[in-house]
Parts: sequence; C-alpha cells; structure tokens
Amino acid sequence: MKALITGTTGQLGFELIRQVVDYSFEAVPISEDELDITDFDRVKKTFQRVKPDLVINPAAYTNVDQAESEPEAAFRVNRDGAENLARICIDHDIPLIHVSTDYVFDGKKNEPYVEDDQVLPLGIYGKSKAAGEQVIESLLPMHIIIRTSWLYGVYGHNFVKTMIRLGKERQELSVVSDQFGCPTSATDLAEAILSVTEQLFKASEPAWGTYHYCGKGITSWHRFAETIFEVVGRIQPVKPPAVRPIPTSEYPTQVERPAYAALCCDRIRHSFGVKQKPWQQSLEEVIKRIFAEETL
Ligand SMILES: NC(=O)c1ccc[n+]([C@@H]2O[C@H](COP(=O)([O-])OP(=O)(O)OC[C@H]3O[C@@H](n4cnc5c(N)ncnc54)[C@H](OP(=O)(O)O)[C@@H]3O)[C@@H](O)[C@H]2O)c1
Repeated sequence: MKALITGTTGQLGFELIRQVVDYSFEAVPISEDELDITDFDRVKKTFQRVKPDLVINPAAYTNVDQAESEPEAAFRVNRDGAENLARICIDHDIPLIHVSTDYVFDGKKNEPYVEDDQVLPLGIYGKSKAAGEQVIESLLPMHIIIRTSWLYGVYGHNFVKTMIRLGKERQELSVVSDQFGCPTSATDLAEAILSVTEQLFKASEPAWGTYHYCGKGITSWHRFAETIFEVVGRIQPVKPPAVRPIPTSEYPTQVERPAYAALCCDRIRHSFGVKQKPWQQSLEEVIKRIFAEETL
C-alpha cells in the first residue's frame, strides 16, 4: 500500500515523512516544488505516475494574518487545492485524509468543540479552510478530515520556537492570556494520522468523516509561553524572561482569533483508538529535540 503525502516541507508534513518508516505502508513524499496542489493537471499527472492508494494532505496556506490581505491565495490553496485532490481521488477511487483547523470555529463556546458544532470562521484563513472541508465532504465520501489546533513542531515556524528565540533577546515578553486552546505537537499529530491511515488500509468499513485531534489539556498562550520557559530552564541554565499576561485587546492582529479553541477528541479515540498525550509532556519532548537537532 502506498500513501502520497503533500506539503512535506511543512512542520506536519516533515513529521509524517520522518515517522512513516515505522508503519506497514510506503509513503511517497511530494513537496510544493514537485506538486502544487492548486495545479489540477500537475496533480493529475503526479497521481498517474505515483499511483497512490491513499492521499494525506497537510499542505495548506497557513499564514493567518497575511490571508486577510491575499484572500485569493488562501482560497486557492485551502479550498481549490483541496478540491483538486478530492476530484482526482474520486477518479482513482482512493481516500483522502485532509488536515484542518480549530479556526473554522468562532471561539464563542466555553467547552471543547465537537465535530458537529456549527462552523463559523472569523477570518479568511478559517473561511478558506472551512471551504476546503465542505468541498471534500460534498465530493468525496471516502474522506477523513482531522481538525487540529495550536500546532508546533521541531521543524518549521511556530510559537514555541518564536518564544525560545525571543526569550534569548528580551528580559520581558507580553503574551495574551485570554485566548484558550490545546497545544498540539506535530509529532503526536503525525502519529495519530499514520495510525488512522494504517487502520484505513486494513478496515473493511472505515468510519469516514470529520475528527478532532489535539494535545490533552487546555491552556492560554500566556501559560503555554511560561511552560516553554520552564522546560527550556531545565535544559539550559539561563534566566528566563518575565512573561507578562496581557488581554487580546493589547495585542492587535490583522484578524480576530477564536477566544476559545479547545477541541474534544472523543470521536477519534472511539473510532480509531487514538489517544491524546498531555500537552506539557509533548512540549518537553519537542523542545529537547529542537535543542538536540539544532532546528531553532
Ligand atoms: N500551524 C498551526 O497552528 C495549525 C493549527 C491548526 C491546523 N493547522 C493545519 O495543519 C496543517 C499543517 O500545518 P503546518 O503548520 O504543518 O503548515 P506549514 O508548516 O505552514 O506547512 C504547509 C505546507 O504546505 C505547503 N504548501 C503551501 N502551498 C502549497 C501548494 N499550493 N501546493 C502544495 N503544497 C503547498 C508548504 O510548502 P512551502 O513551504 O514550499 O510553501 C508547506 O510544506 C495545515 O492544514 C494547517 O491548516 C495548522
């Protein structure tokens, strides 16, 4: 069995490729240079060449603020790219595992979002990802959509690496304390996706549909930042910066973020036996690797 994986230079794509050797199927990594998912003909040719049995799509336009000034670019990748993959998966009669986001919700709930909660994105990025989900749902019955949140990894750009870098330069940092969510390690998410993939290859009647997967536990960006410096302090004896809690109103961004973006992951546990890991434990593992592999 062969899985085609898109976006392999991204933080999740990279982890998928790193871990797939531990599984019973083969993976064909395809970077954006080789496969622009917005180019239908190219996607079609790549499928004809690779002949995959399944596609995993972590490729996305992910710059939340920039999306506000270039909505066409965000929709081209996140909606049209998803549609291209879904259409060609139909032609080849193969399933698609697609990655989506907590930003499809408005964050007004005060308990973890379940998969069937109403999708009400606040900004262009969330709207483009929601449109990608909808097009896959409407075209391709054999799909798994996995929504995740606050993703960080050893490779690529993310909040954890930004905090570690800023902590070296500054004595004090101000971090938003009134937005809540679930930090998710790309390592854990890749493991979850690959476990689901392996089960799809074996199952006679897979449970197609939408799922949530994120780290276990809910926190604020402020507490997330403090925990990052606690972990760094255990690895390197350096004085951590003071982390000052501020309200969202003191940290203006191009687009409003969901104030509460926690995801309930019961469905993926029941259907595929995928368990969450406490976010603090995964954070420690990732920070140790960031230092060991010098990816800062
Ligand atoms: N980051 C988060 O906090 C977060 C939270 C929730 C959900 N998610 C979702 O999780 C998934 C993975 O996110 P990530 O953080 O790993 O993203 P990332 O690091 O930004 O990587 C995105 C990848 O997509 C590729 N890509 C962009 N446009 C493409 C195109 N037209 N054709 C093919 N590949 C293209 C990029 O290639 P280049 O590098 O060459 O441009 C890169 O390899 C995405 O679906 C994202 O929406 C992310």
